Amino acid sequence: MKIFIDSANLKEIEKWLNYGIADGVTTNPSIMFKDGLYNIEEGVKKIAKLIDPRPLSAEVTTNDLKEMGEQAKWLASLAHNVVVKIPVENEFGVPTYGVIKQLENTGVKVNATAILSFGQIMLAAKADATYVSLFAGRIDDEGGNSAEVIADTVDWLERWDFKSKLIIGSIRTVGDITRAAVAGAHIVTVPPQQLDKMADHKFTRETVRQFIADAQSALKMMDKEKT
Ligand code: E4P
Repeated sequence: MKIFIDSANLKEIEKWLNYGIADGVTTNPSIMFKDGLYNIEEGVKKIAKLIDPRPLSAEVTTNDLKEMGEQAKWLASLAHNVVVKIPVENEFGVPTYGVIKQLENTGVKVNATAILSFGQIMLAAKADATYVSLFAGRIDDEGGNSAEVIADTVDWLERWDFKSKLIIGSIRTVGDITRAAVAGAHIVTVPPQQLDKMADHKFTRETVRQFIADAQSALKMMDKEKT
């Protein structure tokens, strides 16, 4: 299973790269805005270079399907490792599977995003999306069972040998990460603060504290034995 960093914070991305944990990065317009990367072109180029050759997902920002295709081509031209995020429908409910299919046909890798159901995943996989992004937190927020959707999806994608890889996004807790992993997600994209929480356990700290204290006591005993 791969872990992507769901962030546009360069320091955090670099940190998780250096730890050997980050297999890629996902962003969206809200993440770019929150992390202060207001200039999309500069931001995308910087992140893409930092994580090269790992994939960076960057999203289109329009409801117009023709413009989506144009923006996608422009984003993809910024760096060879850019994957373009296309929401599976625009805010007026117009489906974008045609845009996804055309982009994939012309060599632009697509991350079909803002997916909230197994049905939408089926359509995006049929349209040949390289990645399909399921927003687990938003499913659970509404009382849904994202773990069930993840397990069904992975089963179905693999049974029929689709190329699409399932990314689980909208992670709110460490439990969301581990549940998605157990349910079989190919990739989980995680905000850095959740990875910080996942790395820490107070009893690990306590255990290490005890080992170091005992090692120091042993050194003192050695010194005593010498005298
Ligand atoms: C990732 O691809 C998504 O853009 C992101 O995880 C969405 O998270 P949110 O539901 O917290 O906005």
